Amino acid sequence: MTAITLIAALGSNRVIGKDGDMPWHLPEDLKHFKATTMGHPMVMGRKTFDTIGRALPGRRTIVITRDTTWSHPEVEVAHSLADALFLAGPADEVFVVGGGQVYAEAMPFAQRMVLTEIDAAPEGDTFFPEWDRAQWHESAREQRDGFAFVTYERG
Ligand SMILES: NC(=O)c1ccc[n+]([C@@H]2O[C@H](COP(=O)([O-])OP(=O)(O)OC[C@H]3O[C@@H](n4cnc5c(N)ncnc54)[C@H](OP(=O)(O)O)[C@@H]3O)[C@@H](O)[C@H]2O)c1
Repeated sequence: MTAITLIAALGSNRVIGKDGDMPWHLPEDLKHFKATTMGHPMVMGRKTFDTIGRALPGRRTIVITRDTTWSHPEVEVAHSLADALFLAGPADEVFVVGGGQVYAEAMPFAQRMVLTEIDAAPEGDTFFPEWDRAQWHESAREQRDGFAFVTYERG
């Protein structure tokens, strides 16, 4: 069965986005995202794909949209989260890479979360969903200057 991992960078107020983009510029986090997701399929919402604007190399990109006319030559399209996960099918791990709507929908099915926890509470309009800490345990933490890479496993 395909394991589902959410990967996100969030402020201490759970902000993940502002005006369709991320409210910070953290090159080290982008490197970490690349290294973590490389070789695995990624599922993302259509709005997040619009902010990136292209497929990222070395990873299948599956975009969720309700618009049945939407397409992009470099990505696969799904019209529900379930269909996106089905497309990701044979992989052992699929990364759900945002944004807020898609994290919220995928959270109940996720086994793992790889979060960049930023020591700041920037203004924003898009949030990582609230989650029940009793259902998760921290399995890894790497502290950096101003943020930490933290892994949580369900259970
Ligand atoms: N900090 C981070 O780690 C991080 C990561 C990713 C994104 N972000 C930020 O998050 C923001 C975007 O997040 P968002 O919540 O606005 O949008 P989103 O989750 O990226 O995309 C929402 C869109 O996905 C499609 N969608 C969602 N659920 C669906 C379903 N069940 N079936 C079919 N299609 C579905 C719809 O597309 P259609 O409208 O085309 O139907 C919907 O409008 C941006 O600011 C971005 O920069 C931050």
